[in-house]
Amino acid sequence: MEPYDPAAFAKRFPLLVDHPELTYLDSAATTQRLDSVLERLERFYREENSNVHRGTYELAARSTAAYEDARKAVAHYVHAASAEEIVFVRGTTEAINLVASCLSSQSVGPGDRILATAMEHHSNFLPWQRAAAKRKAQFRVCGLTANGELDLEDLERHLAGGRTKFLAVAHVSNVLGTVNPIKKITAVAHGVGALVLVDGARRADSGPIDVADLGCDFYAFSGHKMFAGTGIGVLWGRRALLERMEPYQLGGGMVETMTDDSYGCRSLPEKFEAGTPHIAGALGLHCAVDFLKNFSWDAYDSHRHTVSTYLEPALREIPGLRLLGNPMERAGVYAVHHGTVHGHDLATALATKGICVRAGHHCTQPLHRLLGIAASLRASFSIYNSLEQAKKFVEALRWAIRVLF
Ligand SMILES: Cc1ncc(COP(=O)(O)O)c(C=O)c1O
Repeated sequence: MEPYDPAAFAKRFPLLVDHPELTYLDSAATTQRLDSVLERLERFYREENSNVHRGTYELAARSTAAYEDARKAVAHYVHAASAEEIVFVRGTTEAINLVASCLSSQSVGPGDRILATAMEHHSNFLPWQRAAAKRKAQFRVCGLTANGELDLEDLERHLAGGRTKFLAVAHVSNVLGTVNPIKKITAVAHGVGALVLVDGARRADSGPIDVADLGCDFYAFSGHKMFAGTGIGVLWGRRALLERMEPYQLGGGMVETMTDDSYGCRSLPEKFEAGTPHIAGALGLHCAVDFLKNFSWDAYDSHRHTVSTYLEPALREIPGLRLLGNPMERAGVYAVHHGTVHGHDLATALATKGICVRAGHHCTQPLHRLLGIAASLRASFSIYNSLEQAKKFVEALRWAIRVLF
């Protein structure tokens, strides 16, 4: 196997090329944009700009075809049964809200349960909390082990009794880096008749997804976390479930017929795509998917392992610093908490050295509360980050703590 060369991939990201002074370690917030994505966005607006599913002239036919090709590419990328199971949305947050509001109104009633996990992002927490409250159902939260993995025994305890209708679970935690055993979790949930929505936001920059193998019912992710643009994301859902669901929004593009007092929806997926979609975003996502599909994941996995073998002990050795979580498999996310120096101060100090990291609760207040802290400092790595950058981060962190302590 060829040694992995992150610098070679960094050359595909114009912002990183133009700003060699930056050490970008915030890909869990948003990744950088791929050159082919940027070129595609510009080409669409300059040469092909027209709406989809409306005009009959050539330009419109071309953009409709390109938009639907993007859907097919995404369907192939996630191993969907058909392109009709792919709904383009604004991002993970919108995808989850869509399912929580459209399906729970039919499937959840008083006394039922909706279950999330303590490591969920607010986006996979709040929509379910509200859905449960609206349906007079119970909202429950599954606990974690001391290592920051999902407590599978607690999961089974929560699911026992068969009242749980939905389980909302992250594929990868955006704070602990934990990769959840989705296939196993789904099998347990399906055993008691619960549907499973997987939040794939943090998993999105790590290669093709196989929803058929995972066995889940819905999978949500965002383009901007996988080298494509902002404002475009994907909801994959099982066809039978999507067909059963009410439309999320009403308007142009989603109705087949309408009278003064009634309407009939278009078939999937247009039923869920009211209004003009983010056409250029979908075309950019197509480029990102092509890139990710052909990427050398085995070589990258071994590089990621090298980085984590260096980084985990190096962070743990820093006096007063706690590395959050100790999962069996950590997907490039390293959140730390210092007993005395605040994460925001550390992040500001690191920024003076060109290191881009994020401080705060990372939209996971329940997780931070469980860990007994209000905030943490998070460095998140992606395909363009090198071992040298990991070393620079550790050195800068040692320096910042020394200066600020
Ligand atoms: C695990 C996880 N879920 C959901 C989201 C929300 O994604 P978006 O803001 O793209 O909708 C994020 C974003 O940080 C995330 O990390």
